[in-house]
Amino acid sequence: MREQLLAAEKVKAIDWRDGMLHLLDQRLLPAEENWLPYDSAEGVAQAIRQMVVRGAPAIGISAAYGVVLGARARIAAGGDWRAALEADFKVLSESRPTAVNLFWALNRMRERLERVRDGETPLQALEAEAVSIHESDREANLTMAQLGMELIRKHQGSPQALLTHCNTGALATGGFGTALGVIRAAHLDGLVERVYADETRPWLQGARLTAWELANEGVPVSLNADAAAAHLMKTAGITWVIVGADRITANGDVANKIGTYQLAVNAMHHGVRFMVVAPSSTIDMSLESGDDIPIEERDGSELLDLGGRRVAAEVHAVNPVFDVTPADLIDAIVTEKGVVERPDAAKMAQLMCRKRLH
Ligand code: MRU
Repeated sequence: MREQLLAAEKVKAIDWRDGMLHLLDQRLLPAEENWLPYDSAEGVAQAIRQMVVRGAPAIGISAAYGVVLGARARIAAGGDWRAALEADFKVLSESRPTAVNLFWALNRMRERLERVRDGETPLQALEAEAVSIHESDREANLTMAQLGMELIRKHQGSPQALLTHCNTGALATGGFGTALGVIRAAHLDGLVERVYADETRPWLQGARLTAWELANEGVPVSLNADAAAAHLMKTAGITWVIVGADRITANGDVANKIGTYQLAVNAMHHGVRFMVVAPSSTIDMSLESGDDIPIEERDGSELLDLGGRRVAAEVHAVNPVFDVTPADLIDAIVTEKGVVERPDAAKMAQLMCRKRLH
């Protein structure tokens, strides 16, 4: 399965090459495939803020490379470059608030910097750390794909209809995806009859990115309006809702793209299983519950305008872009460290004590 999955890894969103970070501009997909080069921490922070790159793991990986770019410029400028680098950590940490992978990656970079030994080159150490964050996310994707696929098979070994939300694929990660990685593995294992992809208003990550990734690989996919999900659970024989996460708290609550919570409520009502797939870098054990997660609010124009043109009435628009699904609506959280069924605080604590599987 691992070899098959690696062969299915066709799209990537992040490329560290020739000392520069190259990002596939996700705002233009699928109409245009345009790569943008970045050589500064400020540039990378702006790319994250403006959604050139998005998806929790991809944001963390990009921020790690942003630290490398910042350190290179600060070292070249001379003086107390470590103190000056704090400004880069700050600008990167302020780029988006909800996905904890961003802060996790910045912490890893900071800790690596503090561990630089005599005789080591700080810049090389930081670059190696960023590459390792990128590579380990790819490995985590492979492990989670296998574990999630086995969970689907355990409940039903025949082809079935799955529903997903937002984009959790190659574009959102360092590998081929979290929830979408599980869906890819299930497809390779003959377990997928059809994938229903929520369009995911207002950024249309489902319509533009998920549908594109799946269609490119020949996975049978139908696009649906977000509001059609309950109806489809009732009529289309959906067995699993499979989503990613931006932050999972110590009690198993999950922040993910706005609309995930209502999917979980609807799944419970219709007897549809609900799976969350995320690397352990998405788990924030410092927060007791989802009530403590900062929820990003974006500009109302994302709802009021379409294609740069005002289409809504001139009213105030409320635009929270994530919501929190309580743990008791979740059947399983799949991570590279293992699977937690019916998550709660005790099971999450036990999971985080285990060693990585890879
Ligand atoms: O606003 P976005 O596009 O960054 O939101 C992305 C999501 O909510 C994803 O579901 C989540 O990051 C998991 S990606 C593997």
